[in-house]
Amino acid sequence: MPKHEVAVIILAAGKGTRMKSKHHKVLHSIGGKPMLHHLLDSVRSLAPEKTVIVVGAERDQVEAAVEDCEIVAQTEQLGTGHAVMMTSETLETYNGDVLVLYGDVPFIPTSLMKEMIAARAGNDNTGIVVLGFRPKDPARYGRLVTAEDGSLERIVEFKDATSAERAIGLCNSGMMLIDGEKLFGWLDRLSNKNAAGEYYLTDLVAVARADKRAVAVVEANEEDVLGINSREDLAHAEAHFQRKCRTAAMAAGVTLTDPDTVYFSYDTRLASDVTIEPGVFFGPGVVIEQNVTIKAYSHLEGVRVRAGASIGPFARLRPGADIGPDAKIGNFVEVKKAKLEQGVKVSHLSYIGDAVIGANSNIGAGTITCNYDGFLKFETHIGADAFIGSNSALVAPVRIGDGALVAAGSVITEDVQANALAVARGKQYEKAGFSAEFRTAQAAKKAALAAKKGK
Ligand code: UD1
Ligand code: MG
Repeated sequence: MPKHEVAVIILAAGKGTRMKSKHHKVLHSIGGKPMLHHLLDSVRSLAPEKTVIVVGAERDQVEAAVEDCEIVAQTEQLGTGHAVMMTSETLETYNGDVLVLYGDVPFIPTSLMKEMIAARAGNDNTGIVVLGFRPKDPARYGRLVTAEDGSLERIVEFKDATSAERAIGLCNSGMMLIDGEKLFGWLDRLSNKNAAGEYYLTDLVAVARADKRAVAVVEANEEDVLGINSREDLAHAEAHFQRKCRTAAMAAGVTLTDPDTVYFSYDTRLASDVTIEPGVFFGPGVVIEQNVTIKAYSHLEGVRVRAGASIGPFARLRPGADIGPDAKIGNFVEVKKAKLEQGVKVSHLSYIGDAVIGANSNIGAGTITCNYDGFLKFETHIGADAFIGSNSALVAPVRIGDGALVAAGSVITEDVQANALAVARGKQYEKAGFSAEFRTAQAAKKAALAAKKGK
């Protein structure tokens, strides 16, 4: 049990101008999930007493995207300190620790949050814990000015820093844990007399020091405090997230032939001894069981693939596809909302949608389930051990019985009995010698026309 209770404040009122978007910055996705939700997942593991999100514009969007959070507005963006002031009513009676996070810094692990809490719990005189880091390029981050004993004296914003201060490598990530009993009293003492004309949250450090309270620093890895301000940063965050997913998959016993070309979603679940060939994309909601091979350039989303199945190359599995054990989905096959039982084979160039296919049935090349009449969707049911000839169109709603045979090129509009043969195509007939006679006659006509023109 932590000694102190904790409430979380997530700052998200910044304008996010550089994203050039109608969508709130914190709702842009990484690995198929809004960045705010990546952060909220880590916050949830911390189990705080309260989570308050400070928003400016697009408040409705954030409100619609979250549960179990209080939302407060900061109508004018007068700085990070001012943003935290906006929570004073919500946290009026709250006296525990307050952890300030940024909505656009989504990958802070719960363990770091706990480290900050532990740093304060270890010493009652510690009024603030700042999360620092040493970036490769310290750029325009605020600098942490430390005393000889390593404790933090103050934070100086880049804009306000001297060249000696700018030479400091230890930077402010922005995350801060503050004694909640003191927080709003200290905020009242902030001024906006600085280069930006803003109320800096970072100035709380100097205020706490003036009250003889100690300020501690916990150091993070640069990757854990990665922030997102632009589409380029978003792509960078995505790349970082994908790298983590690939490493985790391989550590869990998945073979990735060319890891850098495989893309995961936040919830992709791969069992051990799965093999993923190059260029595979997993959208949200994919579960892959043991010993499955996903061949190159396949796209899967909202799908379960059961043990031992083989998918692709160039397969497209869409939401609601449930591929049975040891089944085979071959190249240029699209499957949507369809349950394929054990050992079903759909090897080439097919569309299977709104369908159920029984065990060990074989679906020939080019078979299409015609599931849509332009208004409504209908189902195709195929029994076990059926054989559907190549280039058949199964016009739903329709049922094909167990063990039935559908002749190639059929357009099936009526149910087919179990073990029957259905042929639904023009009957072949032959006229002996017709082709040769036709060629002779047409060549003569063409020659006569040419002779006439030549005159
Ligand atoms: C801030 C820190 C800086 C640190 C850097 C890390 C201050 C004064 N400076 O600077 O020391 O190195 O983050 O990235 O805190 N926000 C609001 N309302 C506001 C202003 C900001 O909600 O009025 C939110 C933003 O949405 C964002 C966060 O606070 O999530 C940080 O704001 P930003 O403007 O990026 O701060 P920096 O100037 O980068
Ligand atoms: Mg910033």
